[in-house]
Amino acid sequence: MVITVDLGPRSYSIVVAAGALGDVGSRLRELRLGSRTALVSDAAVGRLYRKTVTSSLEAAGFSVAAIEVPEGEGAKTLEVAERCWNGLLAAGLDRTSTVLALGGGAVGDVAGFAAATYMRGVNVVQLPTTVLAQVDASIGGKTAIDHPLAKNLIGAFHQPRLVIVDPAVARTLPEREFRSGLAEIVKHGIVLDAGYFAELERDLAPLRARELGVLESIIAGSCRLKASVVERDEREAELRHVLNYGHTIGHALEAATGYARLTHGEAVSLGIVAEARLARRLGIAGAETVARQERMLDALGLPVRDASIDVEPVVAAISRDKKAKDGRVPFVLAPQIGTFRLVLDVPGADVRAAIASLRS
Ligand SMILES: NC(=O)c1ccc[n+]([C@@H]2O[C@H](COP(=O)([O-])OP(=O)(O)OC[C@H]3O[C@@H](n4cnc5c(N)ncnc54)[C@H](O)[C@@H]3O)[C@@H](O)[C@H]2O)c1
Ligand SMILES: [Zn+2]
Repeated sequence: MVITVDLGPRSYSIVVAAGALGDVGSRLRELRLGSRTALVSDAAVGRLYRKTVTSSLEAAGFSVAAIEVPEGEGAKTLEVAERCWNGLLAAGLDRTSTVLALGGGAVGDVAGFAAATYMRGVNVVQLPTTVLAQVDASIGGKTAIDHPLAKNLIGAFHQPRLVIVDPAVARTLPEREFRSGLAEIVKHGIVLDAGYFAELERDLAPLRARELGVLESIIAGSCRLKASVVERDEREAELRHVLNYGHTIGHALEAATGYARLTHGEAVSLGIVAEARLARRLGIAGAETVARQERMLDALGLPVRDASIDVEPVVAAISRDKKAKDGRVPFVLAPQIGTFRLVLDVPGADVRAAIASLRS
């Protein structure tokens, strides 16, 4: 399936197909860019998929310089970005050249940032290999590195020229990593598309078992939903806030636990549960709407309760949210599956109660 992200002169395609990593070279050739490329990856992903991509690029006439970055969040530093710039320079990349980011969201973010800044911006192609990166991080042009005091603080909007999603690579992900990515997929269904959510309900078992056909249709559906939001709100003015569903409380849970105990997806899962219950408390959502969300997350093996949550540090973290304006944090809530509403004045007591409810 090919999904078009329509952003005028910055439009691009998202190709979703099993085996697509073997076609990167021919797809890139269609864009008529320069012949020099750099392939940024980490050691684990490189071991699994670098050869496939490199062979495909070379067969299509591209030169390929390999740049290796550390695994995980440790890749998103100024030092690693500088290492990328050095690699691009050493390989003679110019304004017509292309940086390819092969890996999870961390590789995509640092390689995208290096591409956004090298020579004031060169082409970048995203080759996401985690579910989170496939349905979320690779689409939309947000790139960033971390500052010692805050994640994703230093960055740029820089849309990719092409995104190639190979759902088959999700089958080599560690189980916990795979499940974490599913939280973003569930989020897309809840706030954007009731039909898609129903498809998820129907395909729960084969999805968990990573059956290729189901992976492909579910991942493609989620890419389409993310793309539709990006098209309508490229620079995060309003609509893109919808993608923060489950994240206001989710991010606070991550921050309050030192980014160590919970994966991002696990925190988002708990955040969705708490925000669904918050909507219920405020009379915005009905009981069945809340129950369907919890059943789905639970069936996918994502957490829906956590006895060790300490409420006050989570509340404190929410008040430091980047999206806070005048001390008020907007919440995206789901009145029904497939719809959302931005709620500005949520009483602190209700937020506390929703978070506390996760403990049992
Ligand atoms: N730019 C955006 O819009 C955006 C959106 C969401 C998240 N992010 C960022 O994404 C990052 C998280 O990304 P992530 O969850 O993909 O994790 P990650 O990039 O940290 O990768 C997780 C691990 O999985 C391994 N891995 C990746 N693909 C694999 C595969 N197919 N098989 C086996 N192992 C594989 C990697 O080597 C790594 O060790 C965060 O830094 C976050 O800030 C960015
Ligand atoms: Zn997320």
